[in-house]
Amino acid sequence: MDIDKQRPTILLVDDEEMVLNALHRVLASSEWGLMTALSGAKALEVMARQPIALIVTDQRMPEMSGLELLSEVKRLYPETVRIVLTGYAEMDVVVKAINQGEVYRFFTKPWNNAELIETVSEVLERRRESLNQVSSFTDQLSRANLETVMALAEAIELKDHYTKGHCSRVRDYSLQMAQALNLSKTFCRDLVYASLLHDCGKIGVSEVTLNVDGPLNDDQYREVQRHPVLGFEMTSKIDYLRPASIIIRQHHERWDGTGYPDRIKAQEISLGGRIVAVADSFDAMTSSRPYRRALDFKTAVQELLDNRGTQFDGEIVDLFVSLLEGDTGIAVRADIRRRLLMVGVDHEKISKLKNSLPAARYELITAESLDEARARLDGVDMVICARQLSDGDGVGFLIDCRRLSPQIIRIMLIERQDLDALAETVNQAGLYAFMIRPLRPAEVMAMIENAFEWRRMARTLNFD
Ligand SMILES: [Fe+2]
Repeated sequence: MDIDKQRPTILLVDDEEMVLNALHRVLASSEWGLMTALSGAKALEVMARQPIALIVTDQRMPEMSGLELLSEVKRLYPETVRIVLTGYAEMDVVVKAINQGEVYRFFTKPWNNAELIETVSEVLERRRESLNQVSSFTDQLSRANLETVMALAEAIELKDHYTKGHCSRVRDYSLQMAQALNLSKTFCRDLVYASLLHDCGKIGVSEVTLNVDGPLNDDQYREVQRHPVLGFEMTSKIDYLRPASIIIRQHHERWDGTGYPDRIKAQEISLGGRIVAVADSFDAMTSSRPYRRALDFKTAVQELLDNRGTQFDGEIVDLFVSLLEGDTGIAVRADIRRRLLMVGVDHEKISKLKNSLPAARYELITAESLDEARARLDGVDMVICARQLSDGDGVGFLIDCRRLSPQIIRIMLIERQDLDALAETVNQAGLYAFMIRPLRPAEVMAMIENAFEWRRMARTLNFD
């Protein structure tokens, strides 16, 4: 059904009839249709019968809460935009929902009529544009899916100590090859998942074997060789990873048919499988192992060239080498250093964070006031800003950031009771996420990495 050709419909959900009537009055318009439902279950019944462009629901309802409803709506109808109305004292659930991408916007009760109308018009306009661009942007890439995949990739790296950073480099190499080949966004998305997870089957291989200091004996070798099939079995059961699971299974196949597990050859191996094989081998050769030093780039390139047509697809090797050597060559991940600006965070916290951020990849700069922060904004990739500063309000600063340099990832640091700040910043400053005090370095680190990963992927796939 072509949703665009119809007038969009908004579904309003609240257990109090008076509130529904009030919302109905505010939002009545000739540009869109309105439906109402008195509970989450009733709302889902309506949605089963007709397409809904936007759902606006109260959070506090008996039986099914607003966020429970929206999480279900996200699963069943990902293209429906989700807005929640909430009272105070529901901070934790709301923050969680925003950080997980369950909710697009939210309003505190009592809401501001003009703001609500403006947001609804804007949401419907943006949705129309995105529907024109792609059939469904959530089909292209989902932030929650990407974060799950990254958490899994990290679990592999924790288990196999010698692969630190390996998965992301294989992802970088693979993606750049796919882009040079002008492959579709869907292909790129599956390739991202597959390259991050290509070794996920190693979770089923014993730690002793994975961390052997030296060449493996026959038994150990056989055990390690099971990982493509184990990885395939894990990922092929998950809907959004099914296309990637094929690549995961095939990343150790060889062009001449002497690889494993299926000993398939040449074009029988999927294009993704052939791309990841080259990226994986190149990164393995250029990383140190306990029993051998890393090869330099030149020697590793020669090794790829020597094995074109036997181990690797020759055309893929040529493409990879041309990207490595060209002007717009493959960026080596270690060369990218991100600049983080922390505004209004106390010294003690910052020195703790500094210890957990790898200095090679992150430069941490600080500002104690907004004036100072404005002066240091040049070249910054991410701003983490407190709510209140000596010379003003963090929200206003983040809104300025969005206007001046929308590419900067904006994260707000809040206290548990700050619901107002929450509403304002999500709605106006287009935040990536909230961090709630007290800060835990490991969580901060994970959020920073995920945010950059997300931005990278969103940009690559032209989705914002
Ligand atoms: Fe592997």
